Formats: sequence, C-alpha cells, structure tokens
Amino acid sequence: MDDSIAIAPEQLVQRHAQPGMSLLAVLHAIQDELGYVPPDTVAPLARVMNLSRAEVHGVITYYHHFRTQPAAPVTVQLCRAEACRSMGTEALAQHIERHTGCRFDAEHGQAHEHGPDATVELQSVYCLGQCALSPAMTINGTLHAKVTPKKFDALFDALLAAAANKCVEVMA
Ligand code: FES
Repeated sequence: MDDSIAIAPEQLVQRHAQPGMSLLAVLHAIQDELGYVPPDTVAPLARVMNLSRAEVHGVITYYHHFRTQPAAPVTVQLCRAEACRSMGTEALAQHIERHTGCRFDAEHGQAHEHGPDATVELQSVYCLGQCALSPAMTINGTLHAKVTPKKFDALFDALLAAAANKCVEVMA
C-alpha cells in the first residue's frame, strides 16, 4: 500500500502550525484534514515546534485519538464502558468479532487487523453519551443505540456491501 500523502509533509505542517499553537492543537488540525497524522510529518513537526522527533512521536502514540494511517472504510466503535457493559456489550463484542473475523483494538497506530477484504476496523470506546440506550456503538461515525447482534449484522452487512460496491465501481 502507498502511504504517501498528496501534500508534502513540510507543507502540511506549515499550513497548520501557526505561531503560539501547541503540538496537540497542530496534531488535531492535521488529523481533522486528513483523517490521520502521517508518520512522515514527525520530522517537520519536530523542527517547527522545536521538539525532538521522539517527543512528537511520543505524543502521537500516547493519545489513542491520533492515528497514523487512514481509517478502514468500515470502522466500528463499540462502547465498552459501565452502562453498556451492564447491558451485554461484552457478549456483543464477541459476536462482532466472530461475525467480522476481526479483533477489537488490534494495534494502535499500526496496521489494524482487517477482515479478508481489508475494509473493517473494530475499536473500543468508553461512553458515547447514550448510556440510557445501551449498548451503543458508531459505525462510520453514525450512532446506533440498543444494538443487538441481529441489528449489528444487518447494519454491518449493508455497509460492507456498499463499501465493496464502491471498490468494484472504481476498478471497473
Ligand atoms: S456507557 Fe456506553 S454510552 Fe455511556
């Protein structure tokens, strides 16, 4: 897979690193634009922010929010906090892993474990603000409440089919 980005890393950093901004703010701005923080921005970020590369890398890997590669076309975030746990989210997580063939939280910041068609990523999150409607999850950013295995299967299978169709259209 080609990990290069359309804009040069130096330009990307210059675009977002305004005087007085913290490293966290710049990282957020880059991820808001691209969906991730490309690894080759670490060196220019270190130069511009007057930090070591190790310091920049340390911040990126410390915060689970930051990712160093694009999200999978189908990304599932399942709430595994208290209220959802009490409503069966762990059993739901096991079902989801069986159904998708993927594992939750395979590897932060590295190649996430995908299904056979490399389009799926499973992430654990801790409270989506829907505690009264648990178990809760998002699929590609859309919130779903009171999720059952059957409901998940229907939502997931429809999205996966749509993602596969997009790939076929591009390749045709
Ligand atoms: S605990 Fe799951 S949405 Fe709050």
